[in-house]
Amino acid sequence: MNSTNQSLKPLTLKINKNSNLEIGGCDLIELAEKYGTPLYVLDEHTIRSICKDYKDAFKAYPKVNMMYASKALCTMAVTSIIASEGFGFDVVSAGEIYTVYKSGVNMSKVLFNGNNKSVDELSLAIKLGVGRISVDNFFELSLLNEIAKSQNKTVDILLRITPGIECHTHEYIQTGHLDSKFGFDLTQIDEAVELILNNYTNLKLHGLHAHIGSQIFETSIYGDEIEILVKEIARLNKKFDLQLDELNIGGGIGVKYTEDDCPPSVYDVAEIIINKLNECIEKYKIEAPVLFIEPGRSIISTSGVTLYTIGSSKQVPKGKKYIAVDGGMSDNIRPSMYQAEYVAELANKPQEELKEKVVVAGRFCESGDILIKNIEFPEIEEGDILCVYNTGAYNYSMASNYNRVEKPAMVLVNNSQSDIIINRETLDDLISHDEIPDRLHL
Ligand SMILES: Cc1ncc(COP(=O)(O)O)c(C=O)c1O
Repeated sequence: MNSTNQSLKPLTLKINKNSNLEIGGCDLIELAEKYGTPLYVLDEHTIRSICKDYKDAFKAYPKVNMMYASKALCTMAVTSIIASEGFGFDVVSAGEIYTVYKSGVNMSKVLFNGNNKSVDELSLAIKLGVGRISVDNFFELSLLNEIAKSQNKTVDILLRITPGIECHTHEYIQTGHLDSKFGFDLTQIDEAVELILNNYTNLKLHGLHAHIGSQIFETSIYGDEIEILVKEIARLNKKFDLQLDELNIGGGIGVKYTEDDCPPSVYDVAEIIINKLNECIEKYKIEAPVLFIEPGRSIISTSGVTLYTIGSSKQVPKGKKYIAVDGGMSDNIRPSMYQAEYVAELANKPQEELKEKVVVAGRFCESGDILIKNIEFPEIEEGDILCVYNTGAYNYSMASNYNRVEKPAMVLVNNSQSDIIINRETLDDLISHDEIPDRLHL
């Protein structure tokens, strides 16, 4: 069965009676006029649809905790929608903890990850009652135990391990291979467990955690990961007389950024995971563990598009034609950072014949600020509105103020209604943290 992450465009996208693109019943040209550009647009129906896919796909396993990896996109409206679908949250910073807390999420359904959590962040997590902390290294074990002791609390933890699996994705988004900055090496786990049992009495270990990478298309890799995790859990239970019963396999399921991308169906991935898990439960003779999964990109990417206004264009003599938009690498760093590819259309001319091949350039002062290297459009005029697909994940969450440009607004669309969920930054926002020492005043 197909799942929503396999769609390149939001599920409600269509061409409307004005011959414009619309999403969630909202005309994209009207949205651009009302809220300005660049503008992130999120389709609520698409978000809820993928959440439903995950829930249906994993129904066959009785103990699953779905944790949305909020690093993909963390705003209070988004966390509210996803919490209302019954998901918990994977968070990696005080900012993400605070966002989910302020949006009313039950903090026992939150899991705190990260390879260098600060004292303040760990203290906040414990104070707000975060459900699990995935401990990444020896330094953090000791630090967390100290903080837990000082707050007179016992903290429920998982151990993040590096399973030694290489997945075929971009080097920067691979995390499970052996030489990685994340997690304990398999050869270090026994020492970590001994420390927890003998020295760190304010920590309670529940299980193991791994995350093998992002934008994964190769489903069998989850089977390999489960085998390693279950085997380790069985071994540790036996060796240390424990009852570890939690297994967190991370996130990583891919999405369709271009027509050539073939991400797996969540239903197929779930089948592989559940079959392998059941097989390993038998093989290694353990009680069925609670399964945590942490999808980020596949939950939110497809629901998002970014609207830009086309401004200047330039035909290089005997070369390429460049069209420039009013955003770029500060609202979407992925093309410059990962050579990520995107598909786009003119929202005001979706049916016109394709006529010109162009490069879509951003407005920032870097020659690498190119959003799309090669794409065909109808005849382009200044003022056309460009709609770039699949920008829901790791776009706003990685946005910067490079060139001192304000971050765009974000609107949520559903049933012909549009609501601002992030206000556009203003020039005053940009200088709001600046100070001028007295001696420098002009
Ligand atoms: C520990 C962990 N879990 C989950 C995720 C989410 O991955 P994705 O957005 O590819 O699903 C990440 C992404 O980096 C991660 O580091």
